[in-house]
Amino acid sequence: MPETTPRGLTRLAFGGDYNPEQWPESVWQEDVRLMREAGVTMVSVGIFSWALLEPRPGVYDFGWLDRILDLLHDNGIRVDLGTPTVVPPAWFYRAHPDALPVTADGVRLAFGSRGAICHSNAHYRTAATTITTQLAERYADHPALAMWHVHNEYGVPVSACYCDSCAAHFRRWLATTYGTVDAVNEAWGTAFWGQRYAHLDEIDPPRTAATVGNPGQALDYKRFADATMRENFVAERDILHRLTPGVPVTTNFMVALSQCDSVDYWAWGREVDIVTNDHYLITDGRRTHVNLAMAADLTRSVAGGAPWLLLEHSTSGVNWQPRNPAKAPGQMARNSLGHVARGSEGAMFFQWRQSRRGAEKFHSAMVPHGGTDTRVWREVVELGASLDSLSTVRGTRTTADVAVLWDWHSWWAQTLDWRPSEDHDPRERADAFYEALYDRHLTVDFAHPEADLSAYPLVVVPALYLMTEKAGRNVREYVENGGTVVVSYFSGIVDQHDAVHEGAHPGALRDVLGLTVEEFSPLLPGQAVRIAGSDGSELTGDVWTEVVVPRGAEPVWTYADGLTAGHPAVTRNRHGRGTAWYVSTRLGAQGLDALLGWAIEDAGVDARADLPRDVEVVRRTGESGTYLFAINHTAADVKVPLETDGTELLTGERAAGRLPVPAGAVRVVRLDG
Ligand code: GLA
Ligand code: ZN
Repeated sequence: MPETTPRGLTRLAFGGDYNPEQWPESVWQEDVRLMREAGVTMVSVGIFSWALLEPRPGVYDFGWLDRILDLLHDNGIRVDLGTPTVVPPAWFYRAHPDALPVTADGVRLAFGSRGAICHSNAHYRTAATTITTQLAERYADHPALAMWHVHNEYGVPVSACYCDSCAAHFRRWLATTYGTVDAVNEAWGTAFWGQRYAHLDEIDPPRTAATVGNPGQALDYKRFADATMRENFVAERDILHRLTPGVPVTTNFMVALSQCDSVDYWAWGREVDIVTNDHYLITDGRRTHVNLAMAADLTRSVAGGAPWLLLEHSTSGVNWQPRNPAKAPGQMARNSLGHVARGSEGAMFFQWRQSRRGAEKFHSAMVPHGGTDTRVWREVVELGASLDSLSTVRGTRTTADVAVLWDWHSWWAQTLDWRPSEDHDPRERADAFYEALYDRHLTVDFAHPEADLSAYPLVVVPALYLMTEKAGRNVREYVENGGTVVVSYFSGIVDQHDAVHEGAHPGALRDVLGLTVEEFSPLLPGQAVRIAGSDGSELTGDVWTEVVVPRGAEPVWTYADGLTAGHPAVTRNRHGRGTAWYVSTRLGAQGLDALLGWAIEDAGVDARADLPRDVEVVRRTGESGTYLFAINHTAADVKVPLETDGTELLTGERAAGRLPVPAGAVRVVRLDG
């Protein structure tokens, strides 16, 4: 069994990507001195260093890396060592230009950025495993080595390549997956538009074609591209396991980022020894701490509930969004501890020292351009001390109240072309339901649609368009056994091949919901419909409506105007010993809150109505005790009721009754008992 915690790390991980190769060696001494001052416990090294480690083919220069690892070890800092396979050197591409990826339009991307890789390319595969072997052999016994950081963020910036090697690899993948070309024809429905293939050799990647291509083919290509990246990860991982047994292997995920939607992290979570995630605040006007909480919950879920590690976030602004605001005083600590509350075994950053050159010189860092007489540095030092006082939370697990079903394959399928409305964004619905649950102070586990749901009193299904029969059965049995579900529109429509389930919509869920959907009727931009509640209340919906015909379900809210007038917008169905809610339009925050309020009542969930909005309360529990994290995102001091007395770990003070949490502050109480 491989280790699941960084070797030799006895405290929470605190540090960041450390790129000493960008600096003269004279700076290194100052780096480690400052790392000690801040309480840094681990750094990630060598992620982009291939060109320095192998300056010419087969000629290695490990001297600088030896010296930096020794220096870090002498200063008690653990090392998360990168395999540099995300950026092969320029000489490699001169020799093997076909290792550069090709877009669906047939454009071969150039060298000069990062992550330009055709993952099917045999030369790349050999070169990547060779440099990985070299590193593993050289550093297997280095005392600083705590963990391996393979590659960097698989799936970005290039999620799929459409070159001829990939075409051949795709055909092999199809042969393994389907066996015969007839099985492919059947799955993809190639009878439509005369796309039938007589032989697997006739099949290409879904390159830019005259118009919309075959959706089954497009969906399978996403699966293939994901599996191909995973093959390369596993190849590196297996070398590392063999040569450095006992050192855990990870690769940094980006689980909740819309820009990284091409990786099935359920599958990847099973391959890594420690799940690690990178998270950056997306400044699009929404509440960033809600998205952060969602990312952390999703990462923990991908880790199967086990502790995971935040491998990158930022001390302040990033530099790759259209506008990159600095973080407010205290926000970095709230962000870092927000991840810890939801299961992270520390808080790491991109990057240690802010670069002077290169594409990311305006991205914040732990040591800013301005050095140590800066707010960011002072907050970094403070955070180091806070994390140090939380050492005993290591190994404990965050406890969740409800589950949200989540599946990358469904997300992929839903974003294919020619759907009923381009305004329907599955990710938007997942975010909205998450936010509504967050506002009721419920901690969310995400679950794969086929996973065991019996531990949850309430399961939310936001726009889960693709559901296998097994997933449909899973939800049905969950409700039959007494569970409560809330299902949002355009769920349970197609199977794993993007084929509509037989019979009326929503094929995978119509029994449990007690209804059929006769037609989808999306709204035009700016259009809204009125919805009347059975209790006299009124709401509006936009983007989407459906002609819902109850077949056992009871209408709770009904469309008051528009094409669907008179049909139910929200229904409730008793099924077995449980209850299934359905909503067929896009409700705003108020409507979602009302809907969840009823479902929560059915499910008997305790929604902590005594907590103010934007005050986050999350628990981690385990052998060392139960820890209550209270994060105050508001500008007012608040008091959080405690179920038992305890000790506040950041201040060292006793806490009883109602815990004062100052504006913008975080408090962590280890509860007595
Ligand atoms: C990603 C990468 C890092 C860096 C940061 C900047 O997470 O892994 O190398 O580019 O983004 O935010
Ligand atoms: Zn390729």
